[in-house]
Amino acid sequence: MSSTDETIANLLREERRFAPPEDLAANANLSADAYEHAAKDREAFWAEQAERLSWDTKWDQVLDWSNPPFAKWYVGGKLNAAYNCVDRHVEAGKGDKVAIHWVGEPVDDTRDITYAELKDEVSKAANALTDLGVAAGDRVAIYMPMIPEAVVAMLACARIGAPHTVVFGGFSADALASRLDDCQAKVVVTADGGYRRGAASALKPAVDEALTKTDVVEKVLVVRRTGQDVAWNDDVDVWWHDVVDGASAEHTPEAFDSEHPLYVMYTSGTTGKPKGILHTTGGYLTGSAYTHHAVFDLKPDTDVYWCTADIGWVTGHSYIVYGPLANGVTQVLYEGTPDSPERGRWWKIVQDYKVTIFYTAPTAIRSFMKQGSEVPDRFDMSSLRILGSVGEPINPEAYVWYRHVVGGDRTPVVDTWWQTETGSILISPLPGVTHGKPGSAMTPIPGITADVVDDEGRSVPNGSGGYLVVTSPWPSMLRTIWGDDQRYVDTYWSRFKAQGYYFAGDGAKKDEDGDIWVLGRVDDVMNVSGHRLSTTEIESALVSHPKVAESAVVGATDPDTGQAVVAYVILREEAGDGGPEIVKELSDHVRTQIGPIAKPRQIMIVPELPKTRSGKIMRRLLRDVAEKREVGDTTTLADSTIMDLISAGQATST
Ligand code: WTA
Repeated sequence: MSSTDETIANLLREERRFAPPEDLAANANLSADAYEHAAKDREAFWAEQAERLSWDTKWDQVLDWSNPPFAKWYVGGKLNAAYNCVDRHVEAGKGDKVAIHWVGEPVDDTRDITYAELKDEVSKAANALTDLGVAAGDRVAIYMPMIPEAVVAMLACARIGAPHTVVFGGFSADALASRLDDCQAKVVVTADGGYRRGAASALKPAVDEALTKTDVVEKVLVVRRTGQDVAWNDDVDVWWHDVVDGASAEHTPEAFDSEHPLYVMYTSGTTGKPKGILHTTGGYLTGSAYTHHAVFDLKPDTDVYWCTADIGWVTGHSYIVYGPLANGVTQVLYEGTPDSPERGRWWKIVQDYKVTIFYTAPTAIRSFMKQGSEVPDRFDMSSLRILGSVGEPINPEAYVWYRHVVGGDRTPVVDTWWQTETGSILISPLPGVTHGKPGSAMTPIPGITADVVDDEGRSVPNGSGGYLVVTSPWPSMLRTIWGDDQRYVDTYWSRFKAQGYYFAGDGAKKDEDGDIWVLGRVDDVMNVSGHRLSTTEIESALVSHPKVAESAVVGATDPDTGQAVVAYVILREEAGDGGPEIVKELSDHVRTQIGPIAKPRQIMIVPELPKTRSGKIMRRLLRDVAEKREVGDTTTLADSTIMDLISAGQATST
């Protein structure tokens, strides 16, 4: 058996089942008949969901799929995303309701922001951006810590129709520069720094450095968060408190076309260059609002919601900013790391704010599991009623621990499968309906049709594995890759062109009941702590080092991070053995090229790489070595002795 088959077999031996709590089921937002209702007339169902939003002009047509795979949803409709997330709640008399309980990392550094205050802040920032020369259609990059101004900046962009591109604060200056360049960002919003692990961590220097590598940016708007020293260029840099605080809080939101670009989010693909995933307004907002309502059984008047993602990832976009705020809930926004100043920080926040819905990633759950239940047991978390998981397959043990220790055995766990590209959750249990199976994302939610298919695109029978596909368009789907329609078509729609299916890039299995178990990527994309990294992107970073001739990167199974980056490197002849510091040198190089998240767990200097006769690197074999397994079939190698050399090197490397 291959290791994947073994994993599947182990997973399917999982027989624990968790029924929804009775009171939750009785009062659930969605009941079992929602599936049938949605399936009967999908477009009518999605029209109903779009009614959650306030439209300035109603659409004439729900879906235009006349030019696949280029979709248009709610054709002819006009709306403003920021109005939907903020103003309308104030107009409905909820201005005094807390929108954001912000918790800074330093203890007692907190701020509560009501919807009325948020409306003023967003309006001021919209006026300030307009004064800086930003017009509808211009791109604005956001490179910020988890502070309220990050949310304000996103909504201000949406309000004036300027698509934002949020770049995760952990990305390096180089990674930031390439994104600024790709989407031609006119303005960058950043901060002097943010608090991470008990210390002020600088952000602005990376922006300064990025600006030496690209000349597209005209202005940098800087929030003072930590008060640390910053370099200042009067021609470019502007303090947020100088231009936003004094701006008018009056701003009339303009209604934009339903298909007006809302944001671009860069994500790793199978080639070196990150893809700018484009989301537009009406369909995206419908998808994020509906799924947030349905999957988390959201009761906006009583729930306190907390999603621990960073706004630099899609989860932060859909499930911190757009979905929750469109639904008018009260939520927690936390700046820092889970263990600062002590290991119970997250649980203390749950206790203090009486969080009812909590959404996090398996990698975090695994790290808490490792610490044991003693820390969470010190806190009163009885307010929790629903737990969510996203980013990678959740191991059954982690699921059960999460439910038991964090959720006190009361709370359903919703294992939500989706992607940057899908914009919102597509496959997930419904907390009031589904009998959850630990490790399974279960079924497509009402309104979504997905399947597991074989190489020819045929639906596989229950009990078999294959590729995960989405079989009909959905409102929050990506519209294209920024500036590269052809890559959009090739990446997602060419694999199952005949069937017209969206190819997600994930492998999956249907169990005997037809429920879906997502197994992970089938392409050269790794998932490290829930973050998507491309093998090619890291290989390119390594090869850009002057001592490196060639490299191959694989994602090896890792108990903490899901997968970990393992790199094999051939040095250039003139570099000799690279010197005693070579591994550290290369590791630091990847860090500056991409960011700390891409740092390899292990770098091995090797004399050769295993290649087929046509020159393709056989990563499968390298994965065997990295995972310390017996090396698989080497008969297609051009030189079959190579694996012996590499394995011998592995045995002696530290
Ligand atoms: C993986 C994050 C299994 C998957 C929202 C997908 C998951 C990639 C799950 C998208 C899940 C996400 N179970 N795998 N519940 N959720 N994935 O774009 O491989 O950062 O293709 O979006 O994460 O990652 P992305």
